[in-house]
Amino acid sequence: MGKVGSEKGCRILEAKGVKKSYAVGDRTVEVLKGIDMVVEDGEFVAVLGESGSGKSTLLYILAGIDRPTEGSVTLLGRDLASVTDEVMAAMRRREISFVYQFDNLVPHLTARENIILPLRLDGRKEKECAEVAAEVCRFLGIEERLDNLPRQLSGGEQQRVALARALVTSPKLIFLDEPTGSLDKERGRQVMELLDRINREKGVALVMVTHSAAHADYASRKIEIEDGLIQK
Ligand SMILES: Nc1ncnc2c1ncn2[C@@H]1O[C@H](COP(=O)(O)OP(=O)(O)OP(=O)(O)O)[C@@H](O)[C@H]1O
Ligand SMILES: [Mg+2]
Repeated sequence: MGKVGSEKGCRILEAKGVKKSYAVGDRTVEVLKGIDMVVEDGEFVAVLGESGSGKSTLLYILAGIDRPTEGSVTLLGRDLASVTDEVMAAMRRREISFVYQFDNLVPHLTARENIILPLRLDGRKEKECAEVAAEVCRFLGIEERLDNLPRQLSGGEQQRVALARALVTSPKLIFLDEPTGSLDKERGRQVMELLDRINREKGVALVMVTHSAAHADYASRKIEIEDGLIQK
């Protein structure tokens, strides 16, 4: 499948009038009330907002994991309302990655196996997987402890393995939901330094939810969600 634009200034993500409501009992709660946003190739966007403001909800919708109640999302030139499950799965394997806050890794696979997993799922040969994983691990400085299971790694190590797994497919865009949320200050800073390098040196666009104003400062642009809308 064709990749869309590689130059900075090319829109890789566009949300228009995105609304999301949840039915809770006999009530409907409107979490997102009309989000308009654009992400350009190579950008690093931080999404801020209070707990419960809808940051994770928005990220899931932008990444095609969840659907909006109203509005549209265009990701890498495709309207997500009309892509098939097959195309969405292929986009997840090759063009976008998602890093969750917790439970990122498959518990019964080693760090190395976790990192390689997206390539294996994409049917790549074992030799190619090993080579790509080795290059990414070198880049991230995580060449040790690759034979450990996730529970044998610290939180910071697990998060770096999750970043490696997000990177092996050479995505154009990585979504991250509070990637430093469970880390102490120093480990959080290390992960942010790695994200900064992933963005600057590899040119990967990042959309990162964070609670930390200091971590949001690494981004090239900040978006704040309040009352279901982006604060101007
Ligand atoms: N499946 C669901 N059903 C009903 N309500 C939901 C559902 N998912 C989320 N919500 C509600 O939507 C609101 C936004 O949730 P969301 O997880 O997006 O917040 P958040 O900004 O990511 O918060 P946090 O910073 O705590 O992670 C919350 O009030 C939550 O209770
Ligand atoms: Mg959240």
